[in-house]
Amino acid sequence: MSTIVYVEPGGQRTTIEVEPGANVMRTAVGHGVAGIVAECGGAAMCATCHVYVEDGADLLPPLGEVEDEMLESALAERLSNSRLSCQLNVTSNIDVLVVRVADQQS
Ligand code: FES
Repeated sequence: MSTIVYVEPGGQRTTIEVEPGANVMRTAVGHGVAGIVAECGGAAMCATCHVYVEDGADLLPPLGEVEDEMLESALAERLSNSRLSCQLNVTSNIDVLVVRVADQQS
């Protein structure tokens, strides 16, 4: 099991235990985490699932080309740790992943 900690725009932290392979966006939506809109349903076409990875980034797959382009259109400021949560799956080598949800999505 791995743990995803979501820091919601209001500052609330939601901690969720997940199985390997869990998608960060889908887990958030399924648990009612505030701030993830995910308009396109995970197709990397909307950038409304923007998060800042605060811990565990080094264990995630590198930024993809499409993800990189979509982050350019994200409403909140793009930072060096910006990712689209729909493109992130938790692998078994990740104990804890901490993501801060962008405070503007659409
Ligand atoms: Fe649309 Fe992630 S849900 S880009």
